[in-house]
Amino acid sequence: MQSQAYNKERVEAILSKMSLEDKVAQMLQLSANANPSDIFEKFKSEGKLGSYLHVLGHETGSFLESAAQTELKVPPIFGIDAIHGHALLKPATVFPSQLAMACSWDDDMVEKVGEVTADEVAADGLNWVFSPVLCIGRDLRWGRIAETFGEDAELISRLGAAIIRGYQKNGNVAACAKHYLGYGEATGGRDSYDTEITERKAREIFLRPFKAAVDAGCMTFMTAYGSIDGESLTVSHRYLTEILKDEYGFDGFVVTDWENFRSTVQGQKLFESMDDACVAGVVAGNDMSMNSNEFYAALVNAAKEGRISIDVIDNAVRRILAVKDRLGLLDGEKKTPLSRDIIGCDAHQAFNYDVAVKSTVLLKNNGALPLAGAKKIAVLGPNATDVRAQYGDWTYFSHPNPKPEETGKECTYTVLKGIQAAYADSEIVYAKGCSVVGAEDAQTSDAWMNEALAVAADADASIIVIGDILDQNGETKDRANLVLSGRQNELVKRVKELGKTVIVVLVNGKPLELNEVEKYADAIVEGFNSGDMGGLAVANLIKGKENFSGKLPISFPYSSAALPCYYNQYDYWHFGQKYIDVPKGSPYPFGFGLSYSNFVYGDLSLDKTVLARGEKAELSVELKNDSAVDGEETVQLYFRDKICKILTPIRTLIDYKKVSVPAGESRTVTFTVDTEKLGYYNRDCEYCVDAGEFALYVSGDGKNFKEITLRVAE
Ligand code: GLC
Repeated sequence: MQSQAYNKERVEAILSKMSLEDKVAQMLQLSANANPSDIFEKFKSEGKLGSYLHVLGHETGSFLESAAQTELKVPPIFGIDAIHGHALLKPATVFPSQLAMACSWDDDMVEKVGEVTADEVAADGLNWVFSPVLCIGRDLRWGRIAETFGEDAELISRLGAAIIRGYQKNGNVAACAKHYLGYGEATGGRDSYDTEITERKAREIFLRPFKAAVDAGCMTFMTAYGSIDGESLTVSHRYLTEILKDEYGFDGFVVTDWENFRSTVQGQKLFESMDDACVAGVVAGNDMSMNSNEFYAALVNAAKEGRISIDVIDNAVRRILAVKDRLGLLDGEKKTPLSRDIIGCDAHQAFNYDVAVKSTVLLKNNGALPLAGAKKIAVLGPNATDVRAQYGDWTYFSHPNPKPEETGKECTYTVLKGIQAAYADSEIVYAKGCSVVGAEDAQTSDAWMNEALAVAADADASIIVIGDILDQNGETKDRANLVLSGRQNELVKRVKELGKTVIVVLVNGKPLELNEVEKYADAIVEGFNSGDMGGLAVANLIKGKENFSGKLPISFPYSSAALPCYYNQYDYWHFGQKYIDVPKGSPYPFGFGLSYSNFVYGDLSLDKTVLARGEKAELSVELKNDSAVDGEETVQLYFRDKICKILTPIRTLIDYKKVSVPAGESRTVTFTVDTEKLGYYNRDCEYCVDAGEFALYVSGDGKNFKEITLRVAE
């Protein structure tokens, strides 16, 4: 599906009246917070710039007034990092992060998150979100794992397409598929570093979410900082034009990431000058430059000197004007803005609570949960009260204008506040226990620890909230060691040694090493960065008022040195199939998540077991809820080509369905298996489906599988 139609006549009429300078100004986006310069003021007063970023709604007036004074009256498009709600604006609804949301495996819910976010962004007077992140989070050392939908191309493709549909549903906001391409796969998990993927592997894995974004009608794309096999994405005509625009038919516009052109000069050392970099970047397929003041003069001069064809500039400007027209910015009619009352409103926060419940994963429960009958509960740990840690990145606290003095919103439920609300009849006592990074002096550190141990000794149960903090996640914050930092493991161990129930709640931006926590905790609840309502959701799940349904979209490591640990790897590893010093695979793999319900899978059946290419089969499985608790299960369907001309992963996700099953009842779950989805890319990047046997696997936890074989005939 392409994005909604635009008025070609109107766009061409505007383009035909534009001078070269007008056109190049449309191709430049400047940041309102990192650009106090005379050139910024010049552009602002002239009113012809294509876009601004990091402007909040109440700041847009002067930019719009300048544009309205011009002959062509083309307004700027305002871009903002609203990546889990319009979280850079304090009153707005802060949803769980993409990684947390992905634990829901709920396309419809994620689509609605996009719609609600876009409505709050539009109500604030803005019209472009730099979201979703479609990078594939397979190297856990990378700083931006929290911004991804996890490690799997199929799940990311579906959730990415869903949130794009949501963002663009009401026609006020453009989405932005980012970061094109391979950003999360950089060698060593190093931000913006080179990646070794081949075009074949790009097509098999990394391009899939972006193709899904094009098919969902995503109006804009953002070029990644990095490079593939030494070729900077910023100057990759192959990926930006031949594949994205020509082969996939992308008809929106491409914006670079922050100062990419400068990076090709100062970082990647591809060009002597910005002039050369900007020309090469636009020719490759970048239609707009994010910041880089020099861009304007570089391109105007290059066009006057004949170093870039005016057709290339016209095509870029045409794409930008087309998106503005789709958003209703060119028809000259004052759009009725949505009421600002919807920003952070109760209805949105009520929906946010449901999102947080579905985005929480139960990793371990030895029977300690649901926690009932505790008269006195100790809530311990640094992340029980840390709103910044709970929110994660790209909020009014953090990026791009860090505000250390800022405070959380009253409505935000930290885990402590959530436990206090859910266990109103119990006595709740809080003690910090330790910090996340352990930078304090020894005396302070011991005092915190001893206070927590005393509180825990006097309570019936302890809920320990740990994980990581904002400073350990985000752009340029790649992390080599994923062990729980500071004295967090020690706190869990010493509290458990008191002999009471210990429930660990994780508030973190990425999978961490939990080997020690696994030894001592009776239950482990994973919330990741869970947004405004995360604490209440976790508390009601612990209490049993809600039931867990979350499944991991990403695998946890046994060790930071045993990476990558994503599930869909090849199984040929010389004899041992594992490192000699850590267990094989992942303690909590992709697709894993427990529930208060007990789901039992029957055997699989196919309506036909031999198919021609292009044919489809119906696969069915009986799912029984063998418990006294109503529940919702995510039934996952994987496949493997048993014998293939090219190495294939042990299994690859091809479909999933969420199924509600009341206590004691059964449901038949069916999947349509399309042989077209069972293929691979050969050395020549041709998509092939070979004849032969295919294993189909159904699972609810990424650990246990029911299997059946299907044959594709010659
Ligand atoms: C940042 C990020 C990108 C973000 C952009 C605008 O550096 O890489 O994800 O959308 O700049 O803030």
